Amino acid sequence: MPVKILFVCLGNICRSPTAHGIFEKMIADAGLQELIMVDSAGTGDWHIGKSPDPRAREAALSRNHDLSRLVARQVRPEDFLEFDYILAMDKQNLWDLKAMALPEFSGRLELFLEYGSSDLEEVPDPYSGGREGFEQVLDLVEDAAQGLLVHLREQLS
Ligand code: 4NP
Repeated sequence: MPVKILFVCLGNICRSPTAHGIFEKMIADAGLQELIMVDSAGTGDWHIGKSPDPRAREAALSRNHDLSRLVARQVRPEDFLEFDYILAMDKQNLWDLKAMALPEFSGRLELFLEYGSSDLEEVPDPYSGGREGFEQVLDLVEDAAQGLLVHLREQLS
């Protein structure tokens, strides 16, 4: 059974699909796609069925990450039975997830940036800001994704 990772933000159109696309590519490049499975979801329901935000897609593409095939979905109760790691982009996401978590959940529910080297604890919501917010999301996600991969390699060995 692969280790299953779910990235969660509010809308599942900016931060968590960025993490999903970047981490999935890192896993494939490392040849670990049979061992680690990646998904993403939002706590909110406004963007279900939508592609990632064009600003997030464009920023990611400028660093060779293609997010175009991803489709937004909402977190569902079964996610707490399926996933081993549920990684929140900010503290509000984490609180919302804690409120939803099933008692059977035996995985890790934490902030994604626990795995990063930045002083920031949260990936700031870029939705209402400018382009630099999307660049910051990419910087934070790339950094924490490296740390997460190191952690998972240790767990798998
Ligand atoms: P995300 O960004 O949580 O990183 O996908 C947002 C997307 C949409 C909204 C807020 C944040 N919104 O208010 O619709």
